[in-house]
Amino acid sequence: MARILFLGDVMGRPGRLALKTHLPEILAAFSPDLVIANAENAAGGAGISPKPLNELKGLGIDVFTSGNHVWDNREAYPLLEAEPFLLRPANYPPGVPGRGVVVRSLGEGGAKTERSELCHGQIGVINLQGRVFMREIDCPFRAADMEIETLNDSGVKVILVDFHAEATSEKEAMGRYLDGRVTAVIGTHTHVQTADGRVLPGGTAYLSDAGMCGPTGGVIGVKAESVVGRFLNALPFRAEPAEGPVALRGCVVDFDEKTGRALAIETVNREDDDG
Ligand SMILES: [Fe+2]
Ligand SMILES: [Fe+2]
Repeated sequence: MARILFLGDVMGRPGRLALKTHLPEILAAFSPDLVIANAENAAGGAGISPKPLNELKGLGIDVFTSGNHVWDNREAYPLLEAEPFLLRPANYPPGVPGRGVVVRSLGEGGAKTERSELCHGQIGVINLQGRVFMREIDCPFRAADMEIETLNDSGVKVILVDFHAEATSEKEAMGRYLDGRVTAVIGTHTHVQTADGRVLPGGTAYLSDAGMCGPTGGVIGVKAESVVGRFLNALPFRAEPAEGPVALRGCVVDFDEKTGRALAIETVNREDDDG
């Protein structure tokens, strides 16, 4: 058995604080063989840049996925080219900087555990982005087919998909479409954790949304007054992270590293006492 810890969208400095506060205890409690986090909001709530990325690496996160907001910080463009373990969704059109898939050995990253010494299987991580209520990029379903085939051809059987999407229907459809072909389909982007984690009949762990590592006092991590104001007057606003208590949200997936079949999925939540 091997285990992945997946952390939902890291929202700016408060998100990084949530990880600094709670991740050491979670690593000790769950002993994951690989830690993945969605970093699309890690720099100031919008995009990613070298400093927060290095900070997150230092906390023991091995692979970073992202999504639509990764482009909000210009520093992300060269970073996506330079950092092999920082992904952007694979279904952006050809020519876009970065890559949407990476293969990493379980247990070789920063979150080394006792079990990691025994577990040297490979895992493929695929990042995809939905198209419902989002920009019309290439088809995530067909992109998944292509990437899974390439990974399988190179002998990789353990595959985790971060499906960064708005609509639960599109996410569930992806889960069903990939059931039996990947180890896990984990949703991100809404910043609100769902309670539907389960292993589908074909052996794929599924969760519509992992939730957010970030402040609990705003609206999906953003200052409440800005978001409420936008609904009232429809004017543009700066999406600054909210202040106050923070929470860490994510999930743990157990699987058979020889077959890639998921055995269990459970959500992980840690928050400040008044969060
Ligand atoms: Fe996000
Ligand atoms: Fe997003």
